Amino acid sequence: MEFASDNVQGADPAILAAMMAANDGTTYSYGADPWTGRAVEALSAVFGRPVTAFLVLTGSAANSLALSALVPPHGAVLCHREAHINTDECGMPELFTGGAKLIGMGGAGAKLTVETLSARLDQFVRGEHEVKPCAFSLTQATELGTVYAPAEVKALCDFAHGRGLKVHMDGARFANAVASLGCSPADVTWKAGVDVLSFGGTKNGAVMLEAVVFFDEALAQDFKFKRKRAGQLLSKGRYLGAQMEAYLKDGLWLRNAAQANAMAKRLAEGMAQVPGVRLPLPTQANEVFPIMPVKLHEALLAAGAHYYDWPGDGPGTDDVRAGEIFVRFVTGFRTTHADVDALIAAAKRLA
Ligand SMILES: Cc1ncc(COP(=O)(O)O)c(C=O)c1O
Repeated sequence: MEFASDNVQGADPAILAAMMAANDGTTYSYGADPWTGRAVEALSAVFGRPVTAFLVLTGSAANSLALSALVPPHGAVLCHREAHINTDECGMPELFTGGAKLIGMGGAGAKLTVETLSARLDQFVRGEHEVKPCAFSLTQATELGTVYAPAEVKALCDFAHGRGLKVHMDGARFANAVASLGCSPADVTWKAGVDVLSFGGTKNGAVMLEAVVFFDEALAQDFKFKRKRAGQLLSKGRYLGAQMEAYLKDGLWLRNAAQANAMAKRLAEGMAQVPGVRLPLPTQANEVFPIMPVKLHEALLAAGAHYYDWPGDGPGTDDVRAGEIFVRFVTGFRTTHADVDALIAAAKRLA
């Protein structure tokens, strides 16, 4: 009963096979290899236009480096309070931007709206005495398992651009969002106004692989220096290129995400039938966030279930009452019906 995260699972065999296939012989290093070249071409094909993309090893590095291309040290990045960049990256965005400030805002389901962004921007009245708002970052799928529809992304991007901000999207779970929305990757990124995307791979079947994808080439100027300086330019870059090529080939990335999403939906439907359990948020990607009695939570842990309680703002649309706890279950590309059904059966038995 393992539902702690989507990176508790191993890698997709097709990706490991691609790394093995790339293992023979010698090749150019530092990303000048053919696998990396083909990976960037494949990313361009996925987005339906040429992109400038850089492969890196972790999502935190992808986010922090992407932001460093958008924001000067005296700048501010506006984001949701629960955003990974704000809560889980140990100050890396601040470090890589040379000191820019992250400004967290609230919003149900970890989603932001034009109204929230507008109200916060209106509070910048001190000129050079405070930081300058330079970027807006949204997470797709969000930290609370919800997704932004293309029209929502467009409204936010249009507004942010109108106020002089660049837009970054943290897509550590971008595949889950696209699989859930059923839209094209273009519709929810550059066509909606996103300037830079952190495109995730690790959570969805890669070994260690993320990409920083620029839709505006001008913003990528000098990015190669930033990546090197951050220790993210892998000398044996062929292994990153091979992973990305295999990840995108024949839609593997979307198939894996669809499996994880389907298992989350099954889990949400099952959990909704457990006495005392409420689901305050829609399950739109591969994460399920129930409110449940603390006693049931403790019994599930004792029975061997592995998942986390979720601190922070909570559901935002519901209250966690005395004797209750807000928790997170994450499914992955290898989660099976049997895995989900075992958890639901245990919850029903213990409730
Ligand atoms: C929303 C989000 N962004 C980015 C990341 C990437 O993190 P890492 O640096 O662990 O690869 C994660 C991982 O948990 C995440 O959930």
